[in-house]
Amino acid sequence: MSRLTIYDENSPAAPLLVSEDARVIAESLSEIGVEFDRWSSPVSLAADAAPEAILEAYRPYLDQLMGAKGAGSADVIKLTPDNPAAPALREKFLSEHIHTEDEIRFFVDGSGHFVMHVGGRVYDALCEAGDLISVPANTKHWFDAGDRPSFTALRVFTDTSGWVAHFTGDQISARFPVT
Ligand SMILES: [Fe+2]
Repeated sequence: MSRLTIYDENSPAAPLLVSEDARVIAESLSEIGVEFDRWSSPVSLAADAAPEAILEAYRPYLDQLMGAKGAGSADVIKLTPDNPAAPALREKFLSEHIHTEDEIRFFVDGSGHFVMHVGGRVYDALCEAGDLISVPANTKHWFDAGDRPSFTALRVFTDTSGWVAHFTGDQISARFPVT
């Protein structure tokens, strides 16, 4: 189940809000400019579907989303616990960073945490299959799918050159381990 947990940035042990209600999650995140939506898509895919097949199956949804966002391209990222690169990939986005373009992801399968740090608060959004999240450019955040990452996600880009992590140097993510 998707879940949002909100904390004061100085109180990792005392959540201000925990909700699994999609409407509450969307409303709370919209207050910081983050878009959250749950797609009830009829798409069903084999677990071993190739990236091309996944993109093709979601093409109508992607076209609509990319039209709305003015985005130019999309691809598929898949990470499984047995991938030898998993620890390095986890490490890559585990520290607080920003991008100069929106980070738009749709979870086809599995789950992962997008954690935003805005206005003295930490917003831990556990996204699962069917969830769309769009983190605006220049929003401080990190991503963690745990030490056994398992997810398949669509990535939508307006400009792939903008999707580079600029690290803030703040070690806050270490104080808010995802569960
Ligand atoms: Fe990011």
